[in-house]
Amino acid sequence: MPASDPVRVRVPAKVNLHLGVGRRRPDGYHDVVTVLHAVGLFDVVSAQAGPGLSVQVGGEGAGSVPVDGSNLALRAARLLAEHTGADPAARLMLNKSIPVAGGMAGGSADAAAALVACDGLWRTGMTRTGLHALAARLGSDVPFLLDGGTALGTGRGDVLTRVLGRGSFTWVLALADGGLSTPEVYAQHDRLRGERAEPAPPEPVLAALRTGDVAALGAALHNDLEPAAVALRPELAATLRAGRELGAAGGVVSGSGPTCAFLARSHAAGLDLAAALMSEGVCRDVRVAAGPVGGARVA
Ligand code: C5P
Repeated sequence: MPASDPVRVRVPAKVNLHLGVGRRRPDGYHDVVTVLHAVGLFDVVSAQAGPGLSVQVGGEGAGSVPVDGSNLALRAARLLAEHTGADPAARLMLNKSIPVAGGMAGGSADAAAALVACDGLWRTGMTRTGLHALAARLGSDVPFLLDGGTALGTGRGDVLTRVLGRGSFTWVLALADGGLSTPEVYAQHDRLRGERAEPAPPEPVLAALRTGDVAALGAALHNDLEPAAVALRPELAATLRAGRELGAAGGVVSGSGPTCAFLARSHAAGLDLAAALMSEGVCRDVRVAAGPVGGARVA
């Protein structure tokens, strides 16, 4: 491949089917027990040879993504160059569909994609395990977005065990106006629950995934951060109520929110639910996405 051809990587969003939050650790993170699930709502990150490192952002919510040194995709590229000795020269272009600050790990997805894209561009020869170690240094969700699928996450969410489950599910994602700050949602959780809270156990979600039973999975969806997200964004209570009343098998705030994820009973039911949520006026926009899907891959 000529050096000037861009490497394009497609990366999914995640929803947390279960998020149990434990104690706040001395490093400021919380121990979690979470079930991460990659869904078919994708950002595309391309890396092209260029002088130095730069990033441009287009697509949904592009205006609120920083393009300075704090950009997580740029930090991923720099970390990979430092680690491998590659010349840190790449023009990154992020094309966003994953909502920014929406609880769907959009920034982490872009970091995972940037690792894969620059690895391809610079031909670093990194192993999968090596990329995972770099990913964990960039953020708790970044390792999962390299893999995709469904995984049990422990530690701060970055220690992953693959979850084998049956079937594919249809998710209706209710997007909110504006984002929520993950540290603020965790801080609100500590105020509501105390810093020594016990994490809710993931077994009901894991059992439902083993059988592939939509009704059981819908009933098992759980997020310990949901009361904190709803306290900071009271209108989410109406969104969650509407989705459940409109026939979703279950609904939950995704991660730190404010996106709400509803499990539909079928693909057709998902399309109907999406339309009904819009006409109820309980969200800014909706997306229908299948899960699980694979992680960051060269397109
Ligand atoms: O790992 P990441 O950079 O995505 O985390 C963002 C913030 O979310 C952390 O700085 C921390 O405040 C909070 N967090 C946490 N416990 C976790 C994951 C994230 O407290 N397990």
